[in-house]
Amino acid sequence: MIKIKDNGGGMSDEVKQKIFDHLFTTKPVGQGTGLGLSIARQIILEKHGGTLEVNSSLGQGSEFIISIPLKG
Ligand SMILES: Nc1ncnc2c1ncn2[C@@H]1O[C@H](COP(=O)(O)OP(=O)(O)O)[C@@H](O)[C@H]1O
Ligand SMILES: [Mg+2]
Repeated sequence: MIKIKDNGGGMSDEVKQKIFDHLFTTKPVGQGTGLGLSIARQIILEKHGGTLEVNSSLGQGSEFIISIPLKG
């Protein structure tokens, strides 16, 4: 299990529900691609049989949790 935590702006429940969707971004046109988390989740799930989860609330930062089984 790998946990990555930041002290950034966090995200609303509405945004949090969509962050793993392909092409979802809250960044301005030309800055966000909406690919990072979607591809990360796909690799963790399909290649490693693991999970990618997030804990976050607005103004409280975000924590991403990668869990990968030790045995396939
Ligand atoms: N560490 C974070 N803190 C707050 N919001 C985040 C964080 N990481 C991702 N997000 C939210 O998830 C959305 C999708 O992220 P991502 O798939 O990496 O695409 P992009 O970075 O191109 O927007 C971001 O636009 C943002 O709204
Ligand atoms: Mg990103």
